[in-house]
Amino acid sequence: MQETARRITALRGHVFQFRGDPFCDDPARMLTDWPDGLIICENGIITEIGQATALLKSLPDDAVVFDHSGKFILPGFVDCHAHYPQTEVIASYGAQLIEWLNKYTFPAEAKFCDPDYARHAADVYLQQNFANGITSASVYCTIHPESVDAIFEQASRYNMRIAAGKVMMDRNAPDNLRDTAKTGYDQSKALLEKWHGQGRTTYSITPRFAPTSTPEQLEATGALWKEHPEVLLQTHTSENRQELEWVGDLFPEHPDYVGVYEHFGLLGKGCVLGHGIYLNDREKALLHETGTSVAHCPTSNTFIGSGLFDVRGAHFSHQPFRVGLATDVGGGSSFSMLTTMRTAYEIAQLQGYSLHPVQAYYLATVGSAKTLYQEDRIGNIKVGMEADFAVIDPLSTGLIRHRMAYTTGVIEQLFVQMILGDDRAIAATYVDGEQVYLQSGTRTALEFTS
Ligand code: GUN
Ligand code: ZN
Repeated sequence: MQETARRITALRGHVFQFRGDPFCDDPARMLTDWPDGLIICENGIITEIGQATALLKSLPDDAVVFDHSGKFILPGFVDCHAHYPQTEVIASYGAQLIEWLNKYTFPAEAKFCDPDYARHAADVYLQQNFANGITSASVYCTIHPESVDAIFEQASRYNMRIAAGKVMMDRNAPDNLRDTAKTGYDQSKALLEKWHGQGRTTYSITPRFAPTSTPEQLEATGALWKEHPEVLLQTHTSENRQELEWVGDLFPEHPDYVGVYEHFGLLGKGCVLGHGIYLNDREKALLHETGTSVAHCPTSNTFIGSGLFDVRGAHFSHQPFRVGLATDVGGGSSFSMLTTMRTAYEIAQLQGYSLHPVQAYYLATVGSAKTLYQEDRIGNIKVGMEADFAVIDPLSTGLIRHRMAYTTGVIEQLFVQMILGDDRAIAATYVDGEQVYLQSGTRTALEFTS
């Protein structure tokens, strides 16, 4: 039998690791860092982390070393809720959720019946992810099976850990964007059987949200998840007040919005609900009891004017639930997870809570991985975990360089990055131990410590 080639890569730089949950313990103590660190990876898995000078001696001759000395090496960002077909409508003016869907989103999504169009859009989307340090995402496609093939095919070229699924909608959508309870089920099942577990791909059953599915479709969706509990499920909930009223009208027999999903068996470990801004206590308790997660989408919530998610309440109530951070592109206004963290900070500030920088980075990495129940593989830099990294140039703009000169420690420096940084701060991105993005012209020297 032929042996598979051993592939060893190593990254040198200022390495950061989460040692615990900053929502449970003192956030300032939840980071370990190696200012001159080395991460060694074999076949896409982290095998060693430590002081560079010591570890470099033990590196085999065939190792490829990427030197990012002076830059911050973080776990790759995990975007736990995004719509790749909406990349072309990001920054669309002047509408809130329902009008925004009808006016901008549905016309864009209708184009994804064309596999070539879908393949190109999927590539554009993934390149934007890499340029922003995002190495994993949970992605909504469109109702077209071709749109699902496109994103999985493109992500597989990089062996990226991605979750995605065919959107199911059988009412309250244009004719060319509706399936039926039966075709939605059949197509999702076929795609799931084709893609789930191929390399690093995960299938996510994707009913868009309660208003665009009939009870029959939600019933079929629940049946499919019951047959395949190994896959994920994603949908939206409680994002916008008009949407809440609409759900009340469409499903008067259920106590609340999450109650609809509860009734059809759509809650549980591996279910990621987008937004969750207007959850009542009963709904929060259900999330806690069932292990259901929420994707906090801050730039979307401000851009489409939806409301303010209560990140403090989600973590510190007597019934906490899992929360990750998400761009929600194209309702969200940025691919940058740094910008997303900044907006999460601002939304928390508006509610009297100052999200700690370590908590913000945690939400964008471990937190999002936890929503997907993949925290044993992605979202942190630990031996045995998958080798996905974001490399941050801490001096990416003139203002940041100036501000960094007045910082007193790494936590303040990380805060400055998430408030002032954007895609210019992403020096490089690694997926499966390989470089998938390198920003040209990034600095290498560390100029702000003295
Ligand atoms: N609710 C249902 N569909 C969508 C969508 O595409 N984007 C957002 N932000 N909310 C939704
Ligand atoms: Zn969304």
